[in-house]
Amino acid sequence: MAALLLSALLLAAAAVASAYQFEVADETGWTKPTGKEGHTYNDWAAQNRFHIHDTLHFKYARDSVMEVSSADYLACNTSNPIAKFEDGSTVYELSRPGFFYFISGQPGHCKSGQRLIVRVMHPLQPELPPASAPTSGDSGWPELSSTAKLSVVSYSVAAFVALGVTFWLFL
Ligand SMILES: *[C@@H]1O[C@H](CO)[C@@H](O)[C@H](O)[C@H]1NC(C)=O
Repeated sequence: MAALLLSALLLAAAAVASAYQFEVADETGWTKPTGKEGHTYNDWAAQNRFHIHDTLHFKYARDSVMEVSSADYLACNTSNPIAKFEDGSTVYELSRPGFFYFISGQPGHCKSGQRLIVRVMHPLQPELPPASAPTSGDSGWPELSSTAKLSVVSYSVAAFVALGVTFWLFL
């Protein structure tokens, strides 16, 4: 039991230590798309895998970053931000699993495509290949069937126990 507890602590420490800072859209930064990019902010997000405690670095000028609800994301509605940043260099911590929605607060920018959905992995979620985020409409991510969910959980528990035993053998 102590070995399991210790391995849990080590895993937690490893998770914190490996927090990663993402440059939003790499060299493009957080800017109103010109329409010639050939990729969207969500294409960029789909190429990455986000975990709890990772951070997003938004780099911008004469612009802003708003975290909004999914409804306000879809409507490009800037009137009820959950959080708003205007300092030109924003580091946002992804503090929980699930979806985060960001839009520009500048008039017209969101409608031009300056918006981003980030999905943070659940800690016990196996690392599935990234899928592209919905860009419009109300379709979400594919739901796992309850059998699939059960096998995901048992897979994770088995992996966790195996790790615990490994640590115990080494101590
Ligand atoms: C934005 O949201 C507010 C509050 O939910 C609502 O009153 C307003 O009509 C919305 N604006 C647009 C353009 O949808």
